[in-house]
Amino acid sequence: MTAASDAPAPVIAIDGPAASGKGTIAYEVAQALDFHYLDSGSLYRLIALRAIERGIALDDGATLAGLTGDLEVSFANGRAMLDGRDVADALRTEAVSAAASRIAVHAEVRSALIDRQRAFRRPPGLVAEGRDMGTVVFPDAGLKLFLTASAEQRAARRHKQLIAKGISVTIDGLLRDIRERDARDSTRAAAPLAAAPDAVILDTTDLSIAEVTAAVLAHYRERTGAR
Ligand code: CDP
Repeated sequence: MTAASDAPAPVIAIDGPAASGKGTIAYEVAQALDFHYLDSGSLYRLIALRAIERGIALDDGATLAGLTGDLEVSFANGRAMLDGRDVADALRTEAVSAAASRIAVHAEVRSALIDRQRAFRRPPGLVAEGRDMGTVVFPDAGLKLFLTASAEQRAARRHKQLIAKGISVTIDGLLRDIRERDARDSTRAAAPLAAAPDAVILDTTDLSIAEVTAAVLAHYRERTGAR
């Protein structure tokens, strides 16, 4: 066996605040490279949904961490399935977004999810997106990106996305929610939202999805010499 085949699969870590485009970009980059894709936020959203359904207090870190053990999650045609039912739309509601950010402050919940996230790292490679991919979950990622955009632009993007799904929301409400989540995600003690010191920071406010995807792929090719 050669040394190269013993090396862990490459990881591209993409972090950033709410609605910065991480999800779409990570998915596109994974498709382009034929890599696996991890949407780590969906794990926090799944626990949030389950907590809401079971009436568990969002400040009860130990009980919430216990929920991670029996989370039977699968993906069918890109839709998240929890215990065999399609929860893709339920996960994107603003109630679940806000609850996800509240449960994500608990160190117990975060550490209960670490191995589950690392298990997504398989050949030929992984594109992982979230808040702490480059800082905590995959600190040895070969490429780390931190995507930003103005809060107004992010609220407009999320509005377009939710309206297209038939979910009724206002831009003002989304802007308020995004600012609240940004503040909570950045100031929490456990794995706060922050760019890793070695991350490439990309302001996407005036860039299209295609432009950001091309920029990420160019950085990756530059790092790896891949074509
Ligand atoms: O798509 P959006 O950025 O709005 O949210 P998301 O990535 O699905 O994440 C939902 C919430 O989960 C965030 O507000 C964070 O509080 C939390 N999260 C986290 O703490 N760490 C991660 N790696 C991913 C998400």
